[in-house]
Amino acid sequence: METTTSPYERYSRAPVNLGRMNDPTGAAWIKGLCGDTVEMYLVVEDGVITDALFQTDGCGATFACGSFATEFAKGRTVTEALGLSPKAIIDGLAGLPEDHRHCAILAASALHKAIADYLLRY
Ligand code: FES
Repeated sequence: METTTSPYERYSRAPVNLGRMNDPTGAAWIKGLCGDTVEMYLVVEDGVITDALFQTDGCGATFACGSFATEFAKGRTVTEALGLSPKAIIDGLAGLPEDHRHCAILAASALHKAIADYLLRY
């Protein structure tokens, strides 16, 4: 029997855009109420996010949320990327376990804070 995996399961097992940057144009570090942290690094050229990486010491859901947020951000303008809500991350992952929904807030907040860092610098 063929089984299908959700984006949440896929990204939890095999996250994408994981890493750090030496010279980002926008970066953020954020700590959630659960105590876990997310780092977000962006390269922005002419208002468009051309690269995005994240790092986390959090749970599998945070790896999935960070993967989705960075994939969403790449190729979008900073204004478009600022529109990414925690609910859009949860919907894009086809759901998150009820007790891990806050992980989407952490990933969206890290992206928004990295964009704010870029906007304040340039
Ligand atoms: Fe802390 Fe998911 S980030 S439980």
